[in-house]
Amino acid sequence: MKLTILGGGGFRVPLVYGALLGDHAEGRVTHVVLHDLDAGRLSAVTRVLAEQAAGVPDAPVVSATTDLDEALTGADFVFSAIRVGGLEGRANDEKVALDQGVLGQETVGAGGIAYGLRTVPVAEDIARRVARVAPDAWVINFTNPAGLVTEAMSRHLGDRVIGICDSPVGLGRRIARVLGANPGEAWIDYVGLNHLGWVRGLRINGRDELPRLLADPDLLGSFEEGKLFGTEWLQSLGAVPNEYLHYYYFNREAVRAYSEAEKTRGAFLRDQQAGFYDEMTRPDASALTAWERTRAEREATYMAEARETAGAGERDADDLSGGYEKVALALMRAIARDERTTLILNVRNRKTLSVLDAEAVIEVPCLVDANGAHPVTVDPLPDHASGLVCSVKAVEREVLAAAESGSRATAVKAFALHPLVDSVNVARRLVDGYTAVHPGLAYLK
Ligand code: G6P
Ligand code: MN
Repeated sequence: MKLTILGGGGFRVPLVYGALLGDHAEGRVTHVVLHDLDAGRLSAVTRVLAEQAAGVPDAPVVSATTDLDEALTGADFVFSAIRVGGLEGRANDEKVALDQGVLGQETVGAGGIAYGLRTVPVAEDIARRVARVAPDAWVINFTNPAGLVTEAMSRHLGDRVIGICDSPVGLGRRIARVLGANPGEAWIDYVGLNHLGWVRGLRINGRDELPRLLADPDLLGSFEEGKLFGTEWLQSLGAVPNEYLHYYYFNREAVRAYSEAEKTRGAFLRDQQAGFYDEMTRPDASALTAWERTRAEREATYMAEARETAGAGERDADDLSGGYEKVALALMRAIARDERTTLILNVRNRKTLSVLDAEAVIEVPCLVDANGAHPVTVDPLPDHASGLVCSVKAVEREVLAAAESGSRATAVKAFALHPLVDSVNVARRLVDGYTAVHPGLAYLK
């Protein structure tokens, strides 16, 4: 089986390859094709993968190319994990927003809209290319903003594109752990949009254990989301929000912390990653050691400002291993081998949330088998959550419309309608600021 990774020179590719190395079963991935626009990044990552594969006799064969059609031809699965504009782009997404006094973050608020505006046209091009060159391939989209980008791609690929994110998985795992349950045996009642969802229940053997957690301040305060949101707020909500909701519920504090930070997350990663790729040009460097070191530092500092604002302290050691590669592998296995499983994924709504139309991509537990991912029936969201979901989906639709028409006015509308952008004038200045720094937004007229 052939897996093509778009954004193959990206820093997280060794996580995926590491997961593949542990898969020895029939029907596993035997060929990995890395595609990237940057040959230097490809050779850096190829070095890490070669060290990972040392001593593994059935390690998937790795090849690398900068030719997209060549990469896609014959692919069974395509992972799309690109970053349009690179980490410099992410740093600029943050800076332009913070200069206007609104949240500058990779996927949430103004920063996420800017990132979406320059990513959607590229993602749609890729989707069209996949439809032509590899029409039977399944596309697993990691590219952020993942919900929006998956929806853009679904307009060309239908249900053959599935979006993934590690954040709901991590959340479910943490809740199960504090409840003393095996995460693999827990049913997690979660729904929303990507980076905008809520856990409303966690059933073990049919019994909802979440009320037990919500009633116990000690347990609630013992894990990441409890520390981020505070026990009282979780009790008021009667649910546990995705960590990204911190940017909504504590927006003012988040904006202040981001503005006061010595470096924004994007700027920190831009510099840190540049160091890694630079080190990889030295023939004597140990690629795997350098990668591990860089990754450990990245994981330890994830959402550092949010945790600082909340006084949440260091990340739990158990939370440092991510899980993104595990979701990807589990999804591929379920489809390729018809191994029926349940995963929280980004798929088209169909009739799941009645407040949204059938084409809207949502994040929800899905039954996965050889026919793809099918959202399960869930209870409706409470009004406050439905309201946010509808507002943010409306913003996403304006982003898709702006990408299609190239209309600057539509881009302004996208920013202005976002609940975390508090003035139409700010929205106008954001569009001015973003078009000035991002060549990828030159299409907005
Ligand atoms: C989580 C989110 C991803 C996001 C990443 C950012 O894993 O689910 O969507 O890209 O965090 O992490 P970073 O280390 O890049 O700040
Ligand atoms: Mn994510």
